[in-house]
Amino acid sequence: MTSAWNNMSFSHFQLPDTATICYLGIAAIFTYVFSTAIYNRYFHPLAKFPGPFLGSLTSWYLVHVICSVPTYGLELHKKYGPIVRLAPNLLSFSDATLLPHVYHRSADKPAFYASWMFGKTAAMFQSLKHEDHYAKKKLVAPCCSMTAMKANHERKISERIDEFCSKIQKKSASGMPLDFSEHLRWFLTDVWTHLVYGEPRGCVTQDRDVDGLLGSLQGVYGMSAEAAVMPFLTPLLQHPLLRKYVWSHTKTFKHMDNLFSNFEKMLARRKHDEKLQNQKLFFDDIDPSKNPQEPHFSPTDFKAEVITFTAATLDGVSAFISPFLDNLLTHPSAHARVVAEILAADRAGRLSSPVATYDETTRLPFFTACIKETLRRDAPAQTILPRVVSAPGYALLRGTVHVPPGAQMGASPYIVHRDAAVFGADPDAWRPQRWVPGESGMMDAGEHDAYVRRMEKYGMWWGYGDRECTGKYYAQMEMQKLCVEIFRRFEVKRPVGGEGFTHKRWAVGMFWGQRLVFKARER
Ligand code: HEM
Repeated sequence: MTSAWNNMSFSHFQLPDTATICYLGIAAIFTYVFSTAIYNRYFHPLAKFPGPFLGSLTSWYLVHVICSVPTYGLELHKKYGPIVRLAPNLLSFSDATLLPHVYHRSADKPAFYASWMFGKTAAMFQSLKHEDHYAKKKLVAPCCSMTAMKANHERKISERIDEFCSKIQKKSASGMPLDFSEHLRWFLTDVWTHLVYGEPRGCVTQDRDVDGLLGSLQGVYGMSAEAAVMPFLTPLLQHPLLRKYVWSHTKTFKHMDNLFSNFEKMLARRKHDEKLQNQKLFFDDIDPSKNPQEPHFSPTDFKAEVITFTAATLDGVSAFISPFLDNLLTHPSAHARVVAEILAADRAGRLSSPVATYDETTRLPFFTACIKETLRRDAPAQTILPRVVSAPGYALLRGTVHVPPGAQMGASPYIVHRDAAVFGADPDAWRPQRWVPGESGMMDAGEHDAYVRRMEKYGMWWGYGDRECTGKYYAQMEMQKLCVEIFRRFEVKRPVGGEGFTHKRWAVGMFWGQRLVFKARER
């Protein structure tokens, strides 16, 4: 019986040749791609939402959208309405009043965020489940509260601002323009390292990116952005064998190693230096070496947190300060008014020397209006910030639209801040007066207050809900103090013919080559 079976099977069965195997393989892939596209287009739970044709077929379309967001996203909303299907399972919305529905307390983040990990461990920012995020935030957020900033860090920020302004003065003595965006990044690196490791990295004094920290950060963004829109890449990038034998030889991973070795080097310095040990540093409360009895964070968790914060700090703040200065330089009357306000406060003794306190900067109403207007019109974080729709789904737009659970939905701050129903009829214009009583165009004080409250309620410059920027007090203190000091100490101009600078709209707006002329004021 057995031998009859063997004879029959082997004598009648022939292995297909290589060409046939290739054809079968191609046919299988084609069938899979085609049937997935048909399913996405006609049978997917989001099939009824309007959007670009290619986006309804494949997630690959997101690569195009993310590369051209937010301006392209804005065009899509003008064409398709307040909710647009950008990819088979992703909806973008432009109606600011939907923010509280989508960014609620128990909304999880999708895999989009896992790619922004600079190692194998998720920091708070990359924790996808809201419960994991909450557990980390409870411990991390107190390190960055306004109370902690004022008590432990403001003095150091003032020292770095004073040093930076002296440097600008020295470098500008000849009247030649300065590459401000580059010097600004060096300043931000020095502030951050001073607060986190106890001493500035020395970029400002040495006029360079010491140990290539900034270069390495920017060197890993390309890969993170690709993995964000193609989440299936993330496990491949994190696979230990591929990491060891393939990725570790790539330039991107060498940059990653440099980030980690910078971190280790700075920590090691503290271990051997008594002066550094005695300082209260930014992350002391979660540093496992400082809390051996109660290590809430493992050394790996701690490292992930510090590196993620490093990226957020250096990019977020420079993506604000560069457009802020540019907005003033392109609006001469607002520029003159800000300078007059700062100089009047200085003459009246309302600004401390050598550097104004954070509280003093908040008592400059027109300056504050310019800050808010830049955060609104030129929000540093520009990309879509997606969340997973939780059960049982959302009934939106007065119940006319149902979004099923499991779908992803999000908004780009750039797009939401152009919702005319909330921010006014001219949302593309930079008009700080919209924040100023008596100048916003509202009929009376009550109406103006309601308008400002609405803009603040639906502004998402710091993100929205529980995942809002944890570093916002740090950012506010650093950027407001520095901007006041720049205008108090210098006349700032663009060089003749030097209007342009490179502005890339990545996840965060990036600026290079902002050349400015600084002339020290007589004081
Ligand atoms: C003007 C400067 C800044 C802006 C406009 C900004 C904006 C944002 C936005 C929009 C988010 C939310 C992202 C999301 O929902 O996916 C965010 C998150 C975050 N930012 Fe900032 N940021 C700035 C500066 C900073 C600074 C200086 C730090 C650190 C000291 C920082 C640390 C963080 C962290 C840790 C998160 C994640 C929060 C969480 O997941 O709970 N940011 N930021």
